[in-house]
Amino acid sequence: MFEEKVGIITGGTSGIGLATAELLAKEGMHVVLASRSAEKGEEALSIIKKWSPNSIFIKTDVTISEDVKNLVSQTYSTFGKIDIGFNNAANTEASSAATHQFKEEDFDHLINVTLKSVWLCMKYQLQVMTKQNNGAIVNTSSMDALLCSAGTGVYAAGKSGVIALTKSVAQEYGHQNIRINSLCPGAFRTSMLEEKFSTLSPEEKVKLDESYKSLNALGRIGDPYEAAKTVKWLLSDDASFVTGQNIIVDGGIGFKFT
Ligand SMILES: NC(=O)c1ccc[n+]([C@@H]2O[C@H](COP(=O)([O-])OP(=O)(O)OC[C@H]3O[C@@H](n4cnc5c(N)ncnc54)[C@H](O)[C@@H]3O)[C@@H](O)[C@H]2O)c1
Repeated sequence: MFEEKVGIITGGTSGIGLATAELLAKEGMHVVLASRSAEKGEEALSIIKKWSPNSIFIKTDVTISEDVKNLVSQTYSTFGKIDIGFNNAANTEASSAATHQFKEEDFDHLINVTLKSVWLCMKYQLQVMTKQNNGAIVNTSSMDALLCSAGTGVYAAGKSGVIALTKSVAQEYGHQNIRINSLCPGAFRTSMLEEKFSTLSPEEKVKLDESYKSLNALGRIGDPYEAAKTVKWLLSDDASFVTGQNIIVDGGIGFKFT
């Protein structure tokens, strides 16, 4: 279904992005991987090229407007079209301090990397997609946007913005055959989650692991391919009547009365 399609995947060199790149490359998509590290980019590209030899890596910081503009224009000049955008890159590198101690520059960074980056990607991808009168976009949000637990404030606000932006922009471009949805992951075993574990003692790691698992009905942490399969579906023609939706993939987070 993705044969000869061209798709940009930001944050495509690891985790959910790389798993999605792999699934789409196996179906024949020309993948454009975008991320900050050239080294990781070349490493990921060598994996993806096994299935999709024309795929490329473009070094991109999604918080920098010129980088995103270049990502889209280089993709277009290489392939002559852009069918798919998976706007997935983000990080939690800013401080996780309490609100009254949170630095203003960390607020700006987190909002830039979670929300503005998605807006920038869509802005430039849509300039191509509106000329083609077709396209499919998935933006990555987070269950933090819906749970709004203590300590996640600014990240949760940025990811909530992704859901709102997705719904609104989907309304704007549906008549041009462009579908836009968001993915809302729960806890997935990727480098982002591993970073949270990296500073903990072995006992604390076990405790955090257990608390993530106990959050959802399935009682485990997700594998990145389980998110990637949903993204693949959303980007495919099988989801041809699905737009403006926030699709939750979280193993069923909820309350359990025992
Ligand atoms: N892992 C989880 O439990 C989880 C839960 C909810 C939401 N998410 C979201 O899923 C998405 C993918 O994260 P992941 O879990 O695969 O983690 P990950 O760390 O493996 O992937 C994030 C990717 O984004 C890239 N990136 C970060 N900042 C960037 C920037 N400024 N410019 C370009 N690339 C940048 C990283 O290099 C990395 O490749 C993120 O948007 C994250 O917020 C993850």
